[in-house]
Formats: sequence, C-alpha cells, structure tokens
Amino acid sequence: MILVTGGAGFIGSNFILDWFRHSDEPVLNLDALTYAGNLENLASLEGNTSHVFVHGNIGDTDLLTRLLSSHRPRAVLHFAAESHVDRSIHGPDEFIQTNIVGTFRLLEAVRAYHGQLPENEKNDFRFLHVSTDEVYGSLEKDEPPFAETRRYEPNSPYSASKAASDHLVRAYHHTYGLPVLTTNCSNNYGPYHFPEKLIPLVIHNALAGKPLPIYGDGQQIRDWLYVGDHCAAIRRVLEAGSPGETYNVGGWNEMSNLDVVRTLCSLLDEFQPRGDARSHAEQIVFVADRPGHDRRYAIDARKLERELGWRPAETFASGIRKTVRWYLDHPDWVARVTSGAYREWTAKQYRA
Ligand code: NAD
Ligand code: DAU
Repeated sequence: MILVTGGAGFIGSNFILDWFRHSDEPVLNLDALTYAGNLENLASLEGNTSHVFVHGNIGDTDLLTRLLSSHRPRAVLHFAAESHVDRSIHGPDEFIQTNIVGTFRLLEAVRAYHGQLPENEKNDFRFLHVSTDEVYGSLEKDEPPFAETRRYEPNSPYSASKAASDHLVRAYHHTYGLPVLTTNCSNNYGPYHFPEKLIPLVIHNALAGKPLPIYGDGQQIRDWLYVGDHCAAIRRVLEAGSPGETYNVGGWNEMSNLDVVRTLCSLLDEFQPRGDARSHAEQIVFVADRPGHDRRYAIDARKLERELGWRPAETFASGIRKTVRWYLDHPDWVARVTSGAYREWTAKQYRA
C-alpha cells in the first residue's frame, strides 16, 4: 500500500480519486482535517475498503511509527501542508509547524521505518515530497521559466516554509540514503479547490453577486495546471523517477490574473448569465496588493517530459471549462465548505 498525507485536501483528494481509477493498491490517508481538509471530497470511496482514513497529524511521531509498522507502505506521498500564501502572511506559525516541523517529524519516522526494511523493500521504497514553484521566487517578464537548477529565493512565509521542507527532504537523501523524489509544481485548479484561492473564490463570488477582488494591477502571472494532470505527473514520478531527483511540473499555461478572471466571467456569462444580462466582469474590483506579491511564476517542465514522458493533457481552455462546469454542478459542496471557518477568513482578508 501507499501512505498519502493530506489526502483530504484539494490535490491530495484528487490524487486518491485518480489513484483508484488506475490501481487497486490500497491507500492509507493521514490527514489532520484542518479547515482545508474535507472528507466529503472522498465520499465516492465510501465502502471501498482499500481507502483507509486516519485522522491525525504528521507531527505526531507515535502515531506515524505505529502506522508505518502496522501498514508497511511501499511509499509515502507527502501532500499535507498549510498551502495559502495570504494566510501565511497573516499568521506564519502554523506554516512553520506543519510544513517544516511536521515534514521533519515525518522524515524522521520514515527514516526509522526505512532503516529496518529488508534490502529489496528498502531499495524499492520511495518518499515523494509534493512541493511548489514558489520556492524559486519571482521571475522577471523576459526571464526563462524555472528549471530544476534554478536557485531557491522564496519570498513569503509559505514559500520559505516549503523551501525549508525541500531542503530537509534533500538532506535525508544525501545523508541517510532515503530514496526521495521531489516535485515542484505550478498553480493547480480543478474540482474540490477550496474557495480561498483565486479561481474557486472568483467563481463563488461571481455567482453570489459579490465583488471579484483583484490584488494590485492584476498583471501578476501564474502558470496554471489542471489538477488531473498534476496527479498523473505524480503517479509517473513515483513509478519511474530517480531517487534524489527533483521534477518541475507545469501546465505551459502562463496567464495574468486579470485574464484568468475575465475568462471565468465569460464562461459564467455563457453557462449561467446574470439576471440583468450584464457581464459578471462588472463585479471585478481592484483591491490592495498582497504584501511581497511575486510577479511571475512559470515552469520549464521539459525534464519530466524528456526523462519520464509526462506532458499535461489539458490546455487552460479545456481545463477551465470543465472546472467551471464542476462548480456549477456541485453547489452543495460549495455551500458546505463556504460555511463556518471560511466565512471568518473572508471577513479578515477582505473586510467583507
Ligand atoms: P490544501 O490546503 O487544499 O490541503 C492540505 C491538506 O493537508 C488538508 O487536507 C489538511 O487537512 C492537511 N493538513 C494540514 N496540516 C496537516 C498536518 N499537520 N497533518 C496532517 N494533515 C495536515 O492544499 P493543496 O492545495 O491540496 O496542496 C497540497 C500540496 O501541494 C501542498 O504541499 C502544497 O504546498 C502543494 N502545492 C499546491 C499547489 C496548488 O496550486 N494548490 C501547487 C503546487 C504545490
Ligand atoms: O504556484 C503554486 C502555488 O499556487 C501553491 O504552492 C500554493 O499552495 C497555491 O495556493 C498557489 O499560490 P498562489 O498565491 O499563486 O495562488 P492564489 O490562488 O492564492 O492566487 C493566485 C494569484 O491571484 C496570485 O497572484 C494572487 C492573486 N489573487 C488571489 C486571491 C485569493 C487575487 O488577485 N485576488 C484574490 O482574492
């Protein structure tokens, strides 16, 4: 079996659903169910005994030791993290605890477990660390996209905490011989995306008749990747990646935030026009910029294509259409995640 951390979050839950479409190998899913963890994402797996959920923290050494020795996974896929940049600016503490200390505790438990495996299982074992392109910092307009050799220059507490975790993972390979793989991915979008992030937030606000907040001038650029493509990349790296290597994962889809929001508005105008027949784009408002806002991210994903044959299947046009449709078809999911803790966050961030 494989152990997945953070499997109730956006990418982790998409990964588990995707895994069972391709394999019947069991998944042990360890998740602390923070505000971002939602077991409803995995409701379609109810009754599937190959999915074993454990409610727990990656920082809990006793729990990790017990889980590893009783379930004996052949791989650990580490998704669990605090993931929202704005939250890291308001309060970095949990980012340090989960992304740095939590990853350290997980690595320690996995190192002990790996050390006592028989030789053949030891060689085949993998620790796959899911990281981000934000560790590389910000690109100038004309600079080439981030390759794996780019120096680390994290600019937010979130990206600094992810960079620290990447360094720990690297050190556990170099020093202890743990067979690690690291993926650094660009911005994901798709189903089950928590509506604090730009794309689901804009869809949600547009339908609710609320303002669509654009930070600063909206000319910041992100490289958008459909989450299903990210899941396929992770499966491929797990299957064939070389221990100690890092792989950049991106969509070859650089777009400014303003263009992303305008695209969302025109899709919503097509699928669910406003009662007054005006465009949802009229709800766009420019708000204060994010402190330290990175101007541009872009991924050079050629290594993953050259060495492991992975390329994204979706274009932004195809992926975003599916995504908007998914949100329109799942109003109950959206209603449930936008209650409670999320409403408190919105009030704090946007003074709404
Ligand atoms: P998310 O915030 O949606 O989900 C994180 C999950 O981790 C949640 O289920 C949460 O309950 C769980 N979790 C948090 N702290 C935990 C802890 N201490 N112990 C156990 N579980 C804990 O995040 P996401 O967007 O799905 O991102 C998953 C991973 O991918 C993260 O490591 C993130 O840095 C990375 N990543 C995300 C993106 C993106 O665009 N979303 C892009 C590149 C990389
Ligand atoms: O690049 C990968 C990263 O992508 C991941 O590591 C992070 O976990 C993930 O959250 C995401 O980070 P971003 O900060 O790029 O994503 P977010 O959706 O928060 O913002 C996307 C862009 O949109 C960014 O330039 C900020 C801007 N933005 C965001 C929000 C929430 C707005 O203009 N208005 C908003 O209300």
